[in-house]
Amino acid sequence: MSDKIHIKSPGRLNLIGEHTDYNGGYVLPCSINLSVDLYFEISKNKSNVITDLGYSMKFDVKENYIKSENHWENYVLGVVQEVKNIKHDLVNFNCDIKSTLPSGSGISSSSALVCGLIKGLCILNDIELDNSGIIDLSRNVEHKYIGVLGGIMDQFTILNAKKNTAILLNCSSLKLKYIDLDLKDYELLLLNTNVKHNLANTQYNNRVLECKQALEIINKIVGKSYLNLSEASLTELSLAKGKMSIEIYNRALFVLEENERTLKSAELLERNDLIQFGKLMYQSHNGLKNNYEVSCKELDYLVEATRKHKDILGARMMGGGFGGCTINLINKNFTKKFLKIIIQQYKLNFKLDLGVIIAKPEEGLKIIK
Ligand code: GLA
Repeated sequence: MSDKIHIKSPGRLNLIGEHTDYNGGYVLPCSINLSVDLYFEISKNKSNVITDLGYSMKFDVKENYIKSENHWENYVLGVVQEVKNIKHDLVNFNCDIKSTLPSGSGISSSSALVCGLIKGLCILNDIELDNSGIIDLSRNVEHKYIGVLGGIMDQFTILNAKKNTAILLNCSSLKLKYIDLDLKDYELLLLNTNVKHNLANTQYNNRVLECKQALEIINKIVGKSYLNLSEASLTELSLAKGKMSIEIYNRALFVLEENERTLKSAELLERNDLIQFGKLMYQSHNGLKNNYEVSCKELDYLVEATRKHKDILGARMMGGGFGGCTINLINKNFTKKFLKIIIQQYKLNFKLDLGVIIAKPEEGLKIIK
């Protein structure tokens, strides 16, 4: 049994393909060069989890799960409970958590934490669990203990990513294709609105349910039994349009269009056609803002501010929405100049500091002994 482990669990960005994962569609994410680092060792007494944000918790793995008032503690307790469902007698452990990933920013700090915790507990307790097992457990934690009905994009990426590469993933079949990213003179700039989103308290779960409703109506009207909304065609959606509210129609329209954009983006990136890909990023943002309605004024402001600069090929909000980051495809020679303007303007408009991350596609979760 190993008794000292360091796990590096990265965050993720998503080039395009937003809110398609829980609809069985395509996503195009990468892991990034910021991570949650977890340092584990076996404890002879109780378990201690300490974070570099000053939070800490103490518990005994033998105790039954009780929901904590502190949101983040439920991630830890949820993981322990789920791992206990595989092997009842877990050892107590100490875990020091240090993170360079800002939380609540749409770059998956919570999935990085959960995947890292599951991996660490499995190693400490000699449990063999492959990546798909870790994804299942991690999803259970989100659904059952946190109350967010999220998809699998984040966990899948964290576990399977490769350096300088994006993953074109079909979230229904889990078939994937690695796409080499050659961004030439361009780089991926993430601008963090610092508007904290707590997905559980937002409309995220509502969107999941709205997509289910759209799927049911389409299936009924066109006589199909699709399992996922992304299997339907735009023609089928238009046949069902009269039977659904305009909101539900708009949600479904966004998902089907975003799915097509994602497949097209993968092709464009394979051909290094960054200009056309940038245009799809803007289209994705328009859809997220107007049809899917998961943007916010700060995100819209940041995307609008890029449109007049020819050195920025594309920009859009990224992740679940309602705050978090925008992703920008920007010429490296222009980044400094742009940041100087945008940081100032953002502060002036919203009285908030803008977070800046130059994201590099990195490999996924690593065990560093
Ligand atoms: C969050 C969820 C993901 C995905 C994105 C939106 O990050 O965790 O599963 O649904 O939102 O694309």
